[in-house]
Formats: sequence, structure tokens, C-alpha cells
Amino acid sequence: MSWTEKYRPRTFEEVAGNQKAIAEIKKWISGWKAGEPQPPLLLVGPPGTGKTTMAHIIGREFSDTLELNASDKRSQDAIMRTAGEASATRSLFNHDLKLIILDEVDGIHGNEDRGGVQAINRILRESRHPIVLTANDPYSKRLQSIKPKCKVINIRKVHTSSIAAALKRICRAEGIDCPDDVLKELAKRSHGDLRSAINDLEAVASGEERVGEELLSMGEKDSTSNLFDAVRAVLKSRDFSKIREAMRVDDDPTLVLEFIAENVPREYEKPHEISRAYDMLSHADIFFGRAVRSRNYTYWRYASDLMGPGVALAKEKTYRKFVRYTGSSSFRLLGRTRKQRNLRDSVAGKMAERMHISPKVAISLFPYMEIIFGNDEMAYEMREFLELTDEEVKLFRKRKIKAPKAKKTRKKSDKTGPLYTQKKKSRSADRGSKSTEGKTRKSSDDKSPGSDSGDDKPREKQTSLFQFSG
Ligand SMILES: Nc1ncnc2c1ncn2[C@@H]1O[C@H](COP(=O)(O)OP(=O)(O)O)[C@@H](O)[C@H]1O
Ligand SMILES: [Mg+2]
Repeated sequence: MSWTEKYRPRTFEEVAGNQKAIAEIKKWISGWKAGEPQPPLLLVGPPGTGKTTMAHIIGREFSDTLELNASDKRSQDAIMRTAGEASATRSLFNHDLKLIILDEVDGIHGNEDRGGVQAINRILRESRHPIVLTANDPYSKRLQSIKPKCKVINIRKVHTSSIAAALKRICRAEGIDCPDDVLKELAKRSHGDLRSAINDLEAVASGEERVGEELLSMGEKDSTSNLFDAVRAVLKSRDFSKIREAMRVDDDPTLVLEFIAENVPREYEKPHEISRAYDMLSHADIFFGRAVRSRNYTYWRYASDLMGPGVALAKEKTYRKFVRYTGSSSFRLLGRTRKQRNLRDSVAGKMAERMHISPKVAISLFPYMEIIFGNDEMAYEMREFLELTDEEVKLFRKRKIKAPKAKKTRKKSDKTGPLYTQKKKSRSADRGSKSTEGKTRKSSDDKSPGSDSGDDKPREKQTSLFQFSG
């Protein structure tokens, strides 16, 4: 059972936030109990705020609950039967009252059910039973004819501190030790959607005894400081035995891989070093996958060597500088909302396909993508390369991407040429095209073929950062 189900409130006292709304609902219930029929209750508010939950809690106050789906044929029949039964029985005894629940009447699950609206209106007209409706969108067209017949109660986003408190209760019940600031952070990211906050908590904490330190703070002596020791050994040294030693961590090796991937661009400075390091990581990733699938753990060894010494030797010499390593992005990139998670996954999918890496590694590259997208030209080219939508680009960059100016001189275009030219070129090689970007191609078309071929050399040398030969 998911945690959202497991910890679904059974009483009003357990519901977080919305105390005013609850007071009104209680008044409405007392009205019915006192033998005074009340108008249908319409709970309107954003997802994950407890509307369905409250509808069911209300149901406990009556003899029975009948949950109907107004866009479903069988439900419509049931609606009519109930409505008929109700209108035939002129006076209902209070203990016979059934609560009729019509959940999500604004029909976010499809819109060709006009019959649904008619059926709803009919039951609102005819039923003598108490009715609770819920909806997400107060401006939904479907609600226009329904709203005037109802007592509308606005359900608001749950306050961050109430969400944090709810998460804390769950952690206590699950026997998980999770620092308050992590809970607070999770709460903030959920933007008032308690369902998504609980889902996120379950994703990071389920089955753990303690969570969080590795995600929000660093440097404490625990298993994660070992994780960072491993990252540091790989990125900071070229000493085999030291690296192998440091890589003996308890953590899932793919997590180590993610941490290394995330920090490579923070430590390494030369493009070809970074390129080579990612090449190693992408191969390691493939071998980890193979090890798991085939249960042949020799692959594990290959993968570890690629990920450790392989990445370590990708640099020409060690850098003398202080770098603060991060390991928070996989946490941050859980995504605040379902929408963001979908966005994250679709971008990761595109990266995975084009770069021959796993979506998980793709996500670990997001911080690097942010750096790339900070540069106008690279942003433009990366967007074309991955075929990202405007919405997806926003994951890495707030400003709009301007189309690049036509290149004035060949020299300039060489210097700032696309990072991935090699890969693209190899695809379009037989077509003889040197560059695939609109404006750039235009300028190269202007040139004679001779100058084009001379153009190849510098580009070739500018090793692609994204050449993951998988
Ligand atoms: N106000 C709340 N108090 C406590 N738990 C909540 C609240 N809102 C949502 N939840 C949690 O999220 C889950 C989904 O809530 P639900 O009532 O289905 O939201 P809605 O119908 O508003 O989208 C519940 O099972 C519960 O675990
Ligand atoms: Mg609901």
C-alpha cells in the first residue's frame, strides 16, 4: 500500500490545514442530522489537498456512501436509481441517509461526457440524499451549471509547515530518522500538494532508517562521507590503489556513478577530459546494467574500473583547487509536481536516446546541462540536438533562447562551433553537409566547397562533449 493510502486521514482531526472549511463542513453535517436538508456540497481546490479524503470522512457520518462516476454509463444508471428511490421516499429518516460522492466533476479525465453534466444536474435536482462533489478547477466550464445549486467550499493548498508536520508524523510511524530541514525542504517543493509531498518522501525514505544528511548536508562522518571520499579519490587522484580502496563503499554503485557524473564538470576543466570521463561513465553504466540483467558480476568489475580508474585517468594531471562536490541534484530533481516530473522524465528520455546513456545518468547530467544552457549559442544547439520543446528548455534556462546570428567569418564559427558537431556530422556525412543548423548551414553554403573541407579540421579537434559512443 502506498504511503498516501496508508496515511489517508480517517477523521477531520487528522486532516492537515483547511480548518475553516472543515468547520463549515461540520455545520453542513449537523444540518442534515437535525433533519434539515442541505444543498449539495462542492469542494473545490488544487490536487492533493484532501478533497476526496474529506468526502469519505463525511461519508462516515451517514449510514452509507455511494461513490459515483458521472461520466460512466453504469454509474449514471445508479445515479438515476438512487435519485428515483430518494424522490419516491418523500421523507427519509436520518439514519437512512446515504452520502453520494461525485468526485472530480470537472472531468479532468476526459471531456466528451456532456451526459455526465446532465446526469449530475439531474441528481442535484432530484436526490434527497446528501451529496458531496469535488472539483479541481474553479473555472471549469463543466461547473458553470452545477455551482449555483451547491454550497461551494474552497479547499486551499496546505501550508508548508502543516505539510512538514504531516511528513514528520509519517516518519515517526515508519521509524525513519529524517532531519527537520529535509522535511521542510520536501514540504516547500510540494507547493501545497500533500499527496505529492508524501509520494516524494516515500521515494527517498522508504526502507531507510535515516535519510537526508547525504542529500542536504555534506562532510559528516557517515556512509555518505565515504561516498564523497570515493568521488574525491576518483576526481582528485590518478593513483589506482587509492581509488580502488576508496571505491569500496556500501552504497549502490550506480549512485556512486551518479555522484561522479555530477561532479566531473566541477573538477575537470579541459573539454576532452570531460568528454573522456563521460565516455567512461556511459560505458560503466552499460556494464552495470548488464551485470544486473545477466547476474554475471564480472561486468561489475569492468564497470567499477571504468568508473574509477577510467574516469581518474581521463584527466591529464590533477587539479590543485578546492571544489565543493554536490550530490543533491537527484534529490532536487525529484521534481516538485507531477508535471515537473513528467518534464524531467521526457528530457531524460531524449538525452538517453541521443547520448546512449541511461535516463538515470541523464538526470545526473542536468546540472551540467544548466551550465551549457547558460551559453546562448550552446543552448540553441543543444536544444536542436535533443529536439527539446520550449517547456523542456525551461528546466535548464529561464531566458528564452535567441536564434544565433549568422556567422560573419568562418574563424568565429570554428571557435564557437557546436560541441556535438562530430556526432551530427557523422550522421549527415554522406549528404556532405557540414553543419545542420539553419543559419550556420546558410553561411557554409555561401562558401566554396574548398573552404568547407578546410573547416573540418578545427571542428574535429574540438572534441565533442557529447559523443557517447555506446
Ligand atoms: N489535508 C490533508 N491532510 C492529510 N493528508 C492529506 C491531505 N490532503 C492530502 N492528503 C494525503 O494525500 C492523499 C491524497 O489526498 P486526496 O484527498 O485524494 O486529495 P485530492 O482529492 O484533494 O486530490 C491522501 O491519501 C493523504 O494521504
Ligand atoms: Mg481527489
